This record gives sequence, structure tokens and C-alpha cells, in this order.
Amino acid sequence: MNRLRPLFITIALLFFAGWLGFVAYSYLQLGRLAPQVESDGSLPPLQSGSAIRGAKVYAAEGCMTCHSQQVRQTSVTPSDIDRNWGKRPSVARDYLRDQVAFLGTSRIGPDLSNVGVRFTDPIWYYRHLYEPTAVVPGSNMPAYRYLFKMQKIQGQPSEEAIVLTGPHAPKEGYEVVPTEEAKDLVAYLLSRKQDYTLPEVPPVPEK
Ligand code: HEC
Repeated sequence: MNRLRPLFITIALLFFAGWLGFVAYSYLQLGRLAPQVESDGSLPPLQSGSAIRGAKVYAAEGCMTCHSQQVRQTSVTPSDIDRNWGKRPSVARDYLRDQVAFLGTSRIGPDLSNVGVRFTDPIWYYRHLYEPTAVVPGSNMPAYRYLFKMQKIQGQPSEEAIVLTGPHAPKEGYEVVPTEEAKDLVAYLLSRKQDYTLPEVPPVPEK
């Protein structure tokens, strides 16, 4: 028993030191972080309900296994800015509106922190999700065709229908339209924009 006590005390101290470092220190540093208030709203901007639901689709589909959402500090990875992944590094405040910040660890595909700046047309996203290789030849991103449905054209074709040629094109008289999940996911992707200025991070001067 006498020898167990120091062991338990050491284990407890180690856990406490970890808690201090990871929980207490982070809370002291970031716990009171608030949106930046501007005369015309606050930054980062509020997200629509559809975008908030879309974050859940993003999680369920595991998009973060291949995509990060963090423009790294220029001292760590200067090429993030050169690759046009953002105009400035991401900071903690950028994630204030997110219920979960999908920082990601692997970059098999491009970083998505600013994908809503790069592509602004929902139809582009629908086509890309339905058949990535139709938009980016040679793409090795998986197709998410189950987020779409094929339906009979009733009167006018839907404005959200994707134009497809090739093996996955719908039959004559049918069209491919996004499901609610695909619409929410694309609303979420369109909301991925860190294109505002925060006092703690000035834009990186253009070369
Ligand atoms: C197996 C890895 C993988 C997974 C999983 C994956 N992607 Fe990708 N993604 C890629 C690759 C590789 C590219 C680059 C080629 C391309 O654009 O198709 C890419 C490109 C993209 C692009 C275009 C980005 C740009 O700037 O050109 C978007 C948007 C995107 N993916 C969204 C998603 C979403 C949303 C999901 C989840 C539903 C997802 N990806 C899942 C690998 C993946």
C-alpha cells in the first residue's frame, strides 16, 4: 500500500498537468473570444440554418478525412497563401460560429477554408459532388451520387438540375436534382469564407 500511494499521486498529478495545459490554458487564452462587432454586423458573419445543417452532412460524409479547413501561419506553411487557399492565415476567431471546427489533418484534396470565395455557383458544387471527374479531369475525389435524385421532368426542367453528359447522364425526360442534404452541404461549402479582416491578423501583402 505504501508504494501505491506515490504511484497514484504521480498519475493524478500527470492528469492534472495535462488538464492545465490543454483545458485550463486554452480556456484562459480563448474562452472569452467574441465576434468582432462592426457597424453593419459582426464577424465572422452569422450562418444560415441550411449551412448549419450542412456541417452535419459534411461530418457524416467524412469530408474532413481528405480536406483541411485551416490556412496555416505563413511561418509554418507559406505555400497555403501561394496556392490561393486564402489571403491570410486562419485564426481562432474564424471558427466562432462553427459548432465543430473541421480543422482536418490530411490534405488529399485542397483546403476548404475559403472554397466559398473560389466557387460561388451552387450548380458547380452539385456537378462536382455528383461526378468529380466531369468537372476536374482525373479527380480522385469520390462521387456522392446518393446525395442526388433522378426524377421525371414535370413541365419545366428544375433550375437546380445538373447538366450531365456521359455515363451518368439521366435518361431522356429525366433530370438529376440535389436532395435537401446536398443543398445543405453546398450552403455550408458556400459559407466557407475567411475573406474579412480581423484585427489580430492583417492580410498577407501580395507578392
Ligand atoms: C478520398 C478523398 C476525398 C474525400 C473523402 C472528399 N474529397 Fe473533396 N477533393 C478531393 C480531391 C483529391 C480534390 C481535388 C480534385 C477535384 O477538385 O476534384 C477534391 C476537391 C474538392 C473540392 C474543390 C476544391 C477546390 O478548391 O478546387 C470541393 C469543394 C470538395 N472537394 C468538397 C468535398 C466534400 C464536400 C466532401 C465530402 C462530401 C469531399 N470533398 C470529400 C478528395 C476528397
